[in-house]
Amino acid sequence: MFKWKEDFSVNVKSIDEQHKELFRIGNSLYDIVSIKDGIDRYDELILALHKMRDYAVYHFEYEEKLIRENGYPKFDQHKRHHDSFISKVESIDEESADEKQQKVGMDLIVFIANWIENHILKVDMDYKEFLNKKGIF
Ligand SMILES: [Fe+2]
Repeated sequence: MFKWKEDFSVNVKSIDEQHKELFRIGNSLYDIVSIKDGIDRYDELILALHKMRDYAVYHFEYEEKLIRENGYPKFDQHKRHHDSFISKVESIDEESADEKQQKVGMDLIVFIANWIENHILKVDMDYKEFLNKKGIF
């Protein structure tokens, strides 16, 4: 479902590795919603959701520290984008997710796809040259 390509690279190794983790989380969500064997996967869905939240907290802190310490001029707007991701993940009501597992899972997959398109490929890509020029790869 989510396949990493060189086009997604921001040319900073540690960040690329972290971004790949989001692809893996997206793929595990896809597995959860697409296997039609009648087995309830609520626990797996919640686990993936928590993984996504922990991932976001860790990865965004890492990325924000890197761009802030290097004086990236669009730090504030970048951080706002990150905060919106965390709000989205935290807004999901885990209890009510039980009856609509398929929908919650699919929504998250679409959310990740949009994030890759609008954040990684645009907002993150914007610091690529900036950091590379500072010698960060
Ligand atoms: Fe970012």
